[in-house]
Amino acid sequence: MAPPPVALITGANGEIGRSLLERLHADGRYRVVTLDLTPLPERFRPMCHETYAGNILDRYLLDQLAAHHEIEVVFHLAALLSTRGERDPDLAHQINVEGTLHLMRMAQQQSARLGRPVRFILPSSIAVYGLPSLDEKAAHPRVTEGQFLEPITMYGCNKLYCEHLGRYFMRHYRSVGPVAANARLDFRALRFPGLISADTVPSGGTSDYGPEMIHHAAQGKPYACFVGPEARLPFMAMPDAVRALLQLLDAPAEALTLPSYNVGAFSLSAQEFAERVKRAFPGADISFAPDAGRARIVDSWPGDVDDARARADWGWAPAYGLDRAFDEYLVPAVRTRYQG
Ligand code: SER
Repeated sequence: MAPPPVALITGANGEIGRSLLERLHADGRYRVVTLDLTPLPERFRPMCHETYAGNILDRYLLDQLAAHHEIEVVFHLAALLSTRGERDPDLAHQINVEGTLHLMRMAQQQSARLGRPVRFILPSSIAVYGLPSLDEKAAHPRVTEGQFLEPITMYGCNKLYCEHLGRYFMRHYRSVGPVAANARLDFRALRFPGLISADTVPSGGTSDYGPEMIHHAAQGKPYACFVGPEARLPFMAMPDAVRALLQLLDAPAEALTLPSYNVGAFSLSAQEFAERVKRAFPGADISFAPDAGRARIVDSWPGDVDDARARADWGWAPAYGLDRAFDEYLVPAVRTRYQG
């Protein structure tokens, strides 16, 4: 029997990466090759066919990877998130755009070699949106994929451009001159809301106040939230995020009508988030100390997304709505994690 095909995960050591790796390992559908700046912790290594520690900007390393493996699927998760990106926009551009371009080129070369399209899955973000004011945000509580595409962060600009790059590699790459039809990427992207994992705390993002609040409370640590109580964002529990990635991966190409889809789960204000956390951890010490820069970014992101296209085209539906996300996933899992 032929061995399972190879899936490459970049940024495998990040929040989504670790959860995706565990899930792919449990499924056994792929031999997983990982690439991350930092070596994967020991407990994840047996889940991988091979692990590489290195930079996605290192083209020699990518060539090596491509020479050694017949990569059929790429989950390109490596990125520098929005707050970190504002602190170093040049670096964000390099990692988020140049790094993605290198990977797309590598994947395109792989598809030419394999004689069939390589599936390239990119997590994009609500950061691609930029609502001009809080009034507009209130007037458009659930944005669709085509609205307000004027991001105010480098990260948001990078993700939006990479969605375009993916669409270009999928539909138009070298349309002047000969190129085999099957030497194109099969590019698919999702615009994730803020993700919340019970296992890890994100770093460098602007939706991080949600996960930070619950992880601090579970450890009995005080938390000063960097946005005001009224700030509203859509969020999603990590198991749903992983499921969305795999569901989109498996969707038949002919069903897909957009290069990048909104996926939603639940929406709440920072105040409502704090109340949920306090309900589970009554002693939680949560205060609000807004940081003007970060609060402005959150204000520019939609309060929720309209994910009707994902639901219609590939059957998306979150398993974890607000109650279930807190009561059946986040609260019990973070409690076990910190309190045994
Ligand atoms: N969670 C990301 C961030 O806050 C948005 O995709 O930057």
